[in-house]
Amino acid sequence: MEKIVINGGIPLRGEVQVSGAKNSALPLLFATLLADGVSEISNVPDLRDINTANKLLRELGAEVATESHCCRINTEKIQNIEAPYDLVKTMRASVLVLGPLLARFGQARVSLPGGCAIGARPINLHLKGLEALGATIQLDHGYVEATADKLRGARILFDIPTVGGTENLLMAASLAEGETVLENAAREPEIVQLADALNSMGAIIEGAGTAIIHIKGVSSLKPLKCQVIPDRIEAGTFMIAAAITGGNILVRGAERKDQEALISKLTETGVKIQPEADGLRVIGPKKLSSVDIRTSVFPGFPTDMQAQFMALMTKAEGTSRISETVFENRFMHVCELQRMGADIQIDGHSAIIRGIKKMLGAPVMATDLRASASLILAGLAAENTTEVSRIYHLDRGYEKIEIKLAALGARIWREQE
Ligand code: EPZ
Repeated sequence: MEKIVINGGIPLRGEVQVSGAKNSALPLLFATLLADGVSEISNVPDLRDINTANKLLRELGAEVATESHCCRINTEKIQNIEAPYDLVKTMRASVLVLGPLLARFGQARVSLPGGCAIGARPINLHLKGLEALGATIQLDHGYVEATADKLRGARILFDIPTVGGTENLLMAASLAEGETVLENAAREPEIVQLADALNSMGAIIEGAGTAIIHIKGVSSLKPLKCQVIPDRIEAGTFMIAAAITGGNILVRGAERKDQEALISKLTETGVKIQPEADGLRVIGPKKLSSVDIRTSVFPGFPTDMQAQFMALMTKAEGTSRISETVFENRFMHVCELQRMGADIQIDGHSAIIRGIKKMLGAPVMATDLRASASLILAGLAAENTTEVSRIYHLDRGYEKIEIKLAALGARIWREQE
């Protein structure tokens, strides 16, 4: 296994280009199953999760070729409708093949994903929505067996604005007979890109980005050609890298409109953020002020930035309270940050962070994707050496992060454990 080693304390300088958004590329890759032909998706990030998604598409019978961040998918020979447990447990976003397979082939057999480090993460709302469209759903030895002669439009009200549930239902409803209305839908930028992509394939979708989305079903869709939007979570992670090291960097690809909640909170801590060229200029202050955050669905503060923001608060002046309202177990980074000297107390779904002057480098262990990023950020600001092990978690969602950070002046490298 590999680890990342950091000798902290260097204020980052220069500019960094954000890669394509993992959480947009994944649904787009699976949306290609809705059409018969060759789709092309560019600006796809080079990540473990993308490799897993392409492996699943090949398992279903698609031909997938990837070259310089572009994926070419030919879906003319799909002959398998099963997403196996070993792939789904590796990457739960594999459940996003449910909607497309059901809509195009009338059947799908997808392993239940099971829980993950950050929570139980059920897919009951995906299944309830597909049943509302007329699918028959049965559970069989840990697999979802879904069948439908023909999906029919329906009104679907989500108990919670689920990102994956909204995506699965957007794709399924695109080929259903009649109109579907999704209420209490997720509003993330990745949902908007998926809806735009489906419309470019011939779907008729209105309202994506709001809580109510209208979909008029069509009889067939044509292959997709699109470019993945920048990754707002990677962008946010680099913004915090500048903040935590007292640096000054240009984050190319960062878009203000997708980061309002994060920008507002970072500004409150004393970080300067201004639009420049095709990105955001981020300047870390000499002194950071403590700020409270409460994660919520978009456009609220993103849960995927909670761990990174906590790393920042460990060295802010004063006490901050971070409440995690989306996932039930997303504080796995706390005990690793405590090994670096952080003063953090967990109180239910909240963490109380008392800022300290300096974090101390230490060997720490990554537990999940965004927790890994949090430890890297803490290492950048800590004295001496930090070693982050189990970085296969990190490689799921960050493309060559140590190379990008080294280009900004960080003393960081990857080596064998
Ligand atoms: C997506 O996961 C993202 N993943 C997650 O990013 C992100 O944290 C999450 O949305 C929230 O923004 C991808 O896009 C691939 P949800 P998803 O369905 O779709 C509960 C990362 O770090 N829920 O919006 O799985 C669920 O348990 C990853 O890049 C149900 O109860 O998130 C959770 O508490 C981590 N029943 C909440 O809703 C359901 O049927 C939000 O889940 C579905 C969800």
